[in-house]
Amino acid sequence: MNKVAVLGGGSLGLLLASKLKASGNDCVLWTRTRSQASLLNNNGLTLENQAGERVSRVTMTALAFEDVHSCEDRIVLLAVKQTALTQAFIDHLSRIIPVQGTLVLFQNGIGHQELLQQALPGRTLIVAVTTEGALRIDETAVRHTGSGETQIAEDDQIDRDQLQSVKRMLEQAGFSVLLSKQLRTAILRKLLINAVINPLTAILRIRNGELTQSVDRMELMNALFHETFDILKEYGLGEESELWNTVLQVCSATSRNESSMLQDVSAHKQTEVEFINGAICRMAAKQGKDAPWNKAVTALVRAIQ
Ligand code: PAF
Repeated sequence: MNKVAVLGGGSLGLLLASKLKASGNDCVLWTRTRSQASLLNNNGLTLENQAGERVSRVTMTALAFEDVHSCEDRIVLLAVKQTALTQAFIDHLSRIIPVQGTLVLFQNGIGHQELLQQALPGRTLIVAVTTEGALRIDETAVRHTGSGETQIAEDDQIDRDQLQSVKRMLEQAGFSVLLSKQLRTAILRKLLINAVINPLTAILRIRNGELTQSVDRMELMNALFHETFDILKEYGLGEESELWNTVLQVCSATSRNESSMLQDVSAHKQTEVEFINGAICRMAAKQGKDAPWNKAVTALVRAIQ
């Protein structure tokens, strides 16, 4: 039985916590608000399948993050958005996670690893990239809208046994996991997927699967994809046609899913667009290239949020 804490009560955090607890781990959940923690402590956490049928309801020990004073040797799975990584949040994290502590990072986009590495010296930071689809139904219920794949960075500086034990824990919880030496590539591939699916679904207010259901939408996807691929390709992403197929596969595997950006705009929350399409624009500028599609979707999502 692993001692684990999931930090973040959004869709991915609830999905991780419910499956880790259901598979027998000592899993606690740290939320942004006290009200969500209290609801989880009272009602437990419900997991639904794609069809909206209840798969499990587990009891959950939850605490608002601001009330957490120690991680009690737990591995911490960081399932908050990049937008949550404020200075105050990181300061609190550094008080809670002891030097030698372990944090698994599940953020979309890029930049978070470098930020946290600087702020949390001595901690083991394991980078994970996931394409699991999840939809938060309410503060105590989540729907697993699409099975994806979770890649964990196989970093030479991190003890292999530790990586294997995180992999095993997630696999026993029912996730498909692989260790990847191509950490940077995995992150950039995910960035490409998010750069295409997330802003378009958020602007058009449609589910992932609906993106591929009309020629007009496919043309938009294609334009955004080609521009983004052209900027990211120099980092050795792989074949363009293979990646285009991957984007289409993710749309199909998570077809019932509302992307995290759509969920954010619907909930009037700040989105991760600055860390996804905004980051692509900044990379393009460094390469002396223009990125009109990424600029446009960043501006549109910024205007919506
Ligand atoms: O951000 C998201 O919503 C997810 O990363 C993905 C894979 C696009 C599925 O919705």
